[in-house]
Amino acid sequence: MNISPEQRTETVLVTGGAGFIGCAISASLLQAFNRVVVVDNLHPQIHESGERPNELADGVELVVADITEAATWDKVLADVKPDVVIHLAAETGTAQSLAESTRHTLANVVGTSQLLDGLLRNKALPRRIVLTSSRAVYGEGAWRKAGGALFYPGQRTSETLDKSEWDFPDAEPTAMRAAEVFPAPVSVYGATKLAQENILQAWAKSYGVETAILRLQNVYGPGQSLINPYTGIMSLFCRMAMGSRSIPLYEDGEVRRDFILIDDVASAVVAGAISAQTHPTPLDIGSGEFQTIGTAAETIAARYGAPAPHVTGQYRQGDVRHAWADISDAKAVLGWEPRYNLQQGIARLADWIDVQPDVKPA
Ligand SMILES: NC(=O)c1ccc[n+]([C@@H]2O[C@H](COP(=O)([O-])OP(=O)(O)OC[C@H]3O[C@@H](n4cnc5c(N)ncnc54)[C@H](O)[C@@H]3O)[C@@H](O)[C@H]2O)c1
Repeated sequence: MNISPEQRTETVLVTGGAGFIGCAISASLLQAFNRVVVVDNLHPQIHESGERPNELADGVELVVADITEAATWDKVLADVKPDVVIHLAAETGTAQSLAESTRHTLANVVGTSQLLDGLLRNKALPRRIVLTSSRAVYGEGAWRKAGGALFYPGQRTSETLDKSEWDFPDAEPTAMRAAEVFPAPVSVYGATKLAQENILQAWAKSYGVETAILRLQNVYGPGQSLINPYTGIMSLFCRMAMGSRSIPLYEDGEVRRDFILIDDVASAVVAGAISAQTHPTPLDIGSGEFQTIGTAAETIAARYGAPAPHVTGQYRQGDVRHAWADISDAKAVLGWEPRYNLQQGIARLADWIDVQPDVKPA
C-alpha cells in the first residue's frame, strides 16, 4: 500500500462499514488514515446478535445509526469531517429486491441522497467518495451475434425460462466493461445501484468532489454472512456440502459468474480510497475470469467429500445468465490486481467456515 504522509492525517468515513466488505477493509484503513469512522445500523439480516462484529478492527469508531435518516448525518458530521467517504451501506438481496422494492430503494437510493445532503448541509464536503456499485447494473449485459454485431438482449422472460431456453440464441455473452457496455439492470437491486451511481456522479461533479465507482462482481470469502439467505451463494454451497447434500444447480448449471475473493475486493476498495488517480467512469472489479456455477459447486463438493452437484432446471427471477468483468481499466487506474484464483479462494472460505462456532449445514 503506497500511502502519502498527508493521507495518514486524514479521516475516512465508511457507511455500512460493519458488513462483509467493511470489516475486510477496516485494518488497512487504520493503516492508511488517522481516523476511521463507521456508520452502520447493524441490520438484523446481517448482524444476528446486533453486536459490534469481532472482524471490525479495534480502533475503528462505530456509530450505530441509519443512513436513511437526516438526523444521523447531522449528528455524525457535527463531529466528523471526512476527507474520504466510502459508501458501502446497502440492501443487497437481488431476488429479494423484486418483492421488497421500497426497502431496497429506501436504503440504497434515499440512503445515498441523505448522505450527500448531510455532507453539504454540515459543510463537510470530502475530497473523494468511493461507491461500491455492482455488476447488477449491467443486467444481461451486451451479447455478440454470430456475425459479430453487439446487441443488448434485455431481460429474460418467464415464457422463455419456463421452456428452459437459458441463453439468447445464436449469440455469445461479452465481458462487462463500463467504458463499452451500457447499464441495463434487470433487478430492482441493480436499478438502485445504478441510481446510486447517477446521483453520486451528478452531485460530485457539481461540488468538485472526486469519485471512485467500483462495480463489483460476486464477492465471497471469509467473513461472508452465514445467516443471510438472500446473498452469498458460495457460503450456502459450502453449508450444503458440509451436510453431505448434493448442491442443486439452477438452470443448466452453466450460468457464468466472476467470483472474486474478499481479499482482492478489499485491496481494490482501499486503492479506490487512496489512489493518486480516479476515473470519471466506473471501474469493473472481478477476478477477470468466469467460472460456471457448476464448476464452483463441484470444487466445493470435492472439498467436503459431498455427493456431486445436480442440475434442477429451476430459475430465479432477477438472475442474469452470465456475468464477468473486464478488469483492464481498474488495473490501469488503481494499480491493482487480483491475486487469488477460485481454488485458493474456496479453500480459504471453507477453512474459515470450519472454525466458525454454531455454523449449521444448509
Ligand atoms: N458482496 C458482494 O458480492 C457485492 C457485490 C457487488 C456489490 N456489493 C456492494 O458492496 C457493498 C457492501 O456489501 P457487503 O457485501 O459488505 O454487504 P453487507 O450486507 O455485508 O454489508 C452492508 C452493511 O450495511 C449496513 N446497512 C444496511 N442498511 C443500512 C442502513 N439503512 N443504515 C446503516 N447501515 C446499513 C448493514 O448493517 C451491513 O453491515 C454494498 O453497497 C453492495 O451493494 C457487494
